[in-house]
Amino acid sequence: MKALVIYDSYFGNTEEVAIAIGNALRGVLDVEVRRVTDLDPKHVKGIDFLVIGSPTRAFHATKNTRNFLKGIAKKEYAHMKVIAFDTRISMEDVDSKILNRMVKTFGYVAEPMGMMMEKRGAKLLVNPIGFYVIDTEGPLKEGEKERAALWAKEAIQEELT
Ligand SMILES: Cc1cc2nc3c(=O)[nH]c(=O)nc-3n(C[C@H](O)[C@H](O)[C@H](O)COP(=O)(O)O)c2cc1C
Repeated sequence: MKALVIYDSYFGNTEEVAIAIGNALRGVLDVEVRRVTDLDPKHVKGIDFLVIGSPTRAFHATKNTRNFLKGIAKKEYAHMKVIAFDTRISMEDVDSKILNRMVKTFGYVAEPMGMMMEKRGAKLLVNPIGFYVIDTEGPLKEGEKERAALWAKEAIQEELT
């Protein structure tokens, strides 16, 4: 089973999560971990399991990520299993009522990415999820890489049995 972990990252946190997921899946699956800007969406041809990760930036996935997801043909989505994650700031750490309210309204990006892929025909294996960074630039909160590894392994488990 061929897996591709695609991520975008400004400060390296989403990249760290993507690498942790890649390492967790390696051995079980044939895995490649790539930055979204290094690949053309056509590269997903023949991929059975796609993991997509983006930092949350102004309540959206990065433009590179959105363009990549849009660029995948529906016929490719149709035979792909997918999961989606984002990295995000924990609202407990944000001392702004306005920002807190905006986050509650506009949310994060893992879920919309997952929904978008599902709408285009992919099989979304588990609920999309977010991993927390400290401040804007990180590092990741303690335990997040381990949580990511577990989440991805559990997602694919059922498909392998
Ligand atoms: C311009 C900008 C906008 C951001 N917007 C959000 C946001 O809407 N919600 C959120 O939770 N975090 C937001 N963040 C924090 C990012 O999610 C955080 O920088 C990112 O998860 C770090 O991942 P990276 O190191 O892979 O870039 C923003 C950060 C920047 C610099």
